[in-house]
Amino acid sequence: MTKTAFIGLGVMGYPMAGHMAAKGHDVTVYNRTEAKAKKWAEEHGGSAAATPAKAAEGADVVCACVGNDDDLRSVVYGDDGILVGMKDGAVFVDHTTASADVAREIGEKAAGMGLRFIDAPVSGGQAGAENGVLTVMCGGDEGAFNDAQPVMDCYAQAVTLLGPVGSGQLCKMVNQICIAGLVQGLAEGINFGTKAGLDMNKVVDVISKGAAQSWQMDNRARTMIKDEFEFGFAVDWMRKDLGICFQEARNNGARLPVTALVDQFYSGVQAKGGNRWDTSSLLRNLTQD
Ligand SMILES: NC(=O)c1ccc[n+]([C@@H]2O[C@H](COP(=O)([O-])OP(=O)(O)OC[C@H]3O[C@@H](n4cnc5c(N)ncnc54)[C@H](OP(=O)(O)O)[C@@H]3O)[C@@H](O)[C@H]2O)c1
Repeated sequence: MTKTAFIGLGVMGYPMAGHMAAKGHDVTVYNRTEAKAKKWAEEHGGSAAATPAKAAEGADVVCACVGNDDDLRSVVYGDDGILVGMKDGAVFVDHTTASADVAREIGEKAAGMGLRFIDAPVSGGQAGAENGVLTVMCGGDEGAFNDAQPVMDCYAQAVTLLGPVGSGQLCKMVNQICIAGLVQGLAEGINFGTKAGLDMNKVVDVISKGAAQSWQMDNRARTMIKDEFEFGFAVDWMRKDLGICFQEARNNGARLPVTALVDQFYSGVQAKGGNRWDTSSLLRNLTQD
């Protein structure tokens, strides 16, 4: 049993922390909206702390999963922040999808305080978090990674160290770039087939057994055909993630022409009120004026 803390009980963090408790770890949680932390503690038998620093006190591994770079800074730094609460040599694992720059910044500050840091964004969505089968992409030292991995294994099916601090976020950027154009392709295919009068469920049955198969096709094509988007990975989050990719591409010179176009299509979805719709809602740009 490891003494752990989890900061940020959102769609992802709530079930991730739940898996840690279910596997027998001693978990203290913190959430900005206190009621959620109290509910979690009642449900899972852990305890709720009043600040991130208090949650982190005495823990061997401290995990976080909040929204973006600024949200992360607000739970990490300051008198109530995670870093001042942590004990010497403990490992801070951040599951937020954030920039590689903020990861390096936190990594340096942590090291200066005798702490260890792993940037560890995840893929697999709400269902992956609830079922404990996330993919975790990590950046950091091997020793810190080895010490934190048993905790991450509670909610993941694959946990991989890619290189120094920042590498996990860079890997997540590749992940999002690979998804963006693919989802637009899926939307165009479904819209085309529907307009051609095909039975799109039958079409998906057959083409998902061939070269067009993808996670997006397996997990999103049926709901796209039904015009259902009130679930899943929010368009606002995807635009946040793509913004991080564009920032990094400005540093490394990579060109992202299709990703940039799809980002504009997502802004069209937001203009339709789809900020919280699943990313597969790109289809609505094609089906609605
Ligand atoms: N949802 C997905 O499918 C998915 C998949 C992969 C990666 N991710 C990434 O995982 C992260 C979390 O996503 P989510 O879906 O769990 O988001 P969410 O449901 O909106 O939860 C965000 C969590 O962060 C907390 N938070 C936000 N800003 C804060 C601040 N300034 N100070 C303190 N706490 C703050 C929120 O507290 P309150 O409860 O008080 O609002 C909440 O606990 C994001 O970086 C997202 O891109 C999400």
